[in-house]
Amino acid sequence: MTKRSVFFASCAPGLEPVLHSEAQELKLAKVERQVGGIYFEGDLVDMWRANLWLRTAVRIFMRVGRFHASDAAQLYKGASEVDWSRFVSPEGSLVVDSQSRESELFHTHFIQQRVKDAVVDQFRKATGVRPTVDVDDPDLRIHAHLYNDRVTLSVDTSGGSLHKRGWRQYQGIAPIAETLAAAIVLMSDWDCRSPFIDPFCGSGTLAIEAALIAAKVPPGSFRTFGFESWPGHDAASYSRFKSAEIERQSWPRKLQIRASDSDAKQVEGAKQNAEAAGFGDRIRFDVLDALEFEAKPGWNAFIVTNPPYGLRVGDEEQLVPLYRDFGQRLFESCSGYRLAMILGNPKLRRALGLPEGEQKPVQNGTIPCEFFRLTLGD
Ligand SMILES: C[S@@+](CC[C@H](N)C(=O)[O-])C[C@H]1O[C@@H](n2cnc3c(N)ncnc32)[C@H](O)[C@@H]1O
Repeated sequence: MTKRSVFFASCAPGLEPVLHSEAQELKLAKVERQVGGIYFEGDLVDMWRANLWLRTAVRIFMRVGRFHASDAAQLYKGASEVDWSRFVSPEGSLVVDSQSRESELFHTHFIQQRVKDAVVDQFRKATGVRPTVDVDDPDLRIHAHLYNDRVTLSVDTSGGSLHKRGWRQYQGIAPIAETLAAAIVLMSDWDCRSPFIDPFCGSGTLAIEAALIAAKVPPGSFRTFGFESWPGHDAASYSRFKSAEIERQSWPRKLQIRASDSDAKQVEGAKQNAEAAGFGDRIRFDVLDALEFEAKPGWNAFIVTNPPYGLRVGDEEQLVPLYRDFGQRLFESCSGYRLAMILGNPKLRRALGLPEGEQKPVQNGTIPCEFFRLTLGD
């Protein structure tokens, strides 16, 4: 457990500062912000912690080899020197992906082939059996990164994107990724005490991620990770560790989380999701038009929401009056409330008629979006 490694936690573009703060709060060592993620250092327990706790990370990669290679033979030799039996069994499956910049070896398909050959030959020599290649659902994902002829080999410790928390039963029509939803809640600066309201809740992602944050539930507690199938994985220690992490959860006294949507099917699905996440009786769900959500004067609530963009859901022109009326309602009834929104449509943003507030570009899948927050009535 004491051997230390370098890790890279990847995230969606624009979320690096949030992930960086999360890693610091988790007291991970030597956290360094990069484009597309963060580096940190730690032992295997830190890797468990990162997978279990980092709400905005997509995958956690562990560095397993670093060497110079300007030709195929050097690449093969370097990849052969890693002990791959730690990460996959001879009967298991793997895939190699790669990136190359400013290097003699630049053909990524060729790089992947050579690394894969080195890995499977190591197994074949040692056991007579070799792992198979599975592009869609491998037991082990290996990443080869080449820059200036320097090769870095990493393994994906997560085993599948961390946005797949394991609580989602109902997909919804346009859900945001759980990792992005967590980032929006964190960027909203919600204090986990004031009422939290999502009047366009869809499948409930924002409300559920908010509940997980408030209750201090590890977002990874519903799923398994890639490292759990590594041949040397210490399942008993991990199980004790995970139970201890989960035990610390508690629900803040009197906290209210409310989520509503005009579509009853979405609300039903959101309830199923909340139930699976353990918040069936904690989050209040209602079928309500967004213009009718309850807003008590002096409540100082946080409205954190992801309305339709008119790209995937609804049509832009039809949505202009909804945005205009919603902005008007916020202006009239929610003075002192904090608003945080992710919007993918500048025209609809203008229709809200609200001040600009603080803005940040974020990526919602393939859609470039704007996150903004402001205090209403300021
Ligand atoms: C982009 S989706 C929200 C997705 C949600 N964040 C999730 O992760 O599932 C927008 C939602 O707004 C809802 N909606 C559209 N018009 C509405 C209205 N007038 N009042 C309330 N909800 C509305 C749609 O039913 C849809 O579920």
